[in-house]
Amino acid sequence: MTEKVVVHNLKKSFHHLDVLKGIDLTVAEGEVVCVIGPSGGGKSTFLRCLNRLEDATEGQIFVDGYEITDKKVNINKVRQNIGMVFQSFNLFAHLSVKKNIMLAPVDLKLMRKEEAEKKAMELLDRVGLADKANAFPHQLSGGQQQRVAIARALAMNPDVMLFDEPTSALDPEMVGEVLSVMKELAEGGMTMIVVTHEMGFARDVADRVILVADGVIAEQGTPEQIFEHPQVKRTQDFLAAVL
Ligand SMILES: Nc1ncnc2c1ncn2[C@@H]1O[C@H](COP(=O)(O)OP(=O)(O)O)[C@@H](O)[C@H]1O
Ligand SMILES: [Mg+2]
Repeated sequence: MTEKVVVHNLKKSFHHLDVLKGIDLTVAEGEVVCVIGPSGGGKSTFLRCLNRLEDATEGQIFVDGYEITDKKVNINKVRQNIGMVFQSFNLFAHLSVKKNIMLAPVDLKLMRKEEAEKKAMELLDRVGLADKANAFPHQLSGGQQQRVAIARALAMNPDVMLFDEPTSALDPEMVGEVLSVMKELAEGGMTMIVVTHEMGFARDVADRVILVADGVIAEQGTPEQIFEHPQVKRTQDFLAAVL
């Protein structure tokens, strides 16, 4: 097993509020980990620490054996290798879909313009939106915009993809198209950490499900273990409330 992400005793406090209280997690290359749990439990903070949108208060995070919590690390390099997709798509309104996808690789001089354009078209094809390359974000549905946001993250050739409730802001009829793009990505071998309320997706696609509550991993296991035979009361209560 190649360890892609290793989290060791991660703690995060905001002033006097202890949000993450010691998270340990190892994610193998190609593994899909779904993170579930009650609101306010620390799921978003955890993901944000993984790409250094938040600085850990204590503990260490390694991606590909490289310590990203090291103060001397180049944060931009870290973020290039870790794609993140949020609930809100945050596409640039004044740029076409294709230009949204090309922007970061060209700006960071990772690709020449022609190369980035070719890559953008490949990715748009992959997320089923090749015909929308020249459209502007406001001309797309929420589901289509989120698929563009996924393509944009993939344009950097990330090692790991983080998703924070990527379908929570969508109308119900658009959830499926986004989840199916994510499922294909998972089947293609991408290492993924996905915070989601979509229990069907977690059951179907996750290799491992972890329940984060009160800043700790309350329980983890295969989807079958977590959904059919939860051992911890916190998990049982959470599942009773959402299923
Ligand atoms: N930047 C911040 N400053 C202060 N408190 C924060 C900040 N970000 C998150 N929190 C608090 O941390 C706790 C966990 O939040 P969050 O990670 O968003 O949980 P979840 O994603 O599981 O709903 C909440 O109590 C939230 O108010
Ligand atoms: Mg959250």
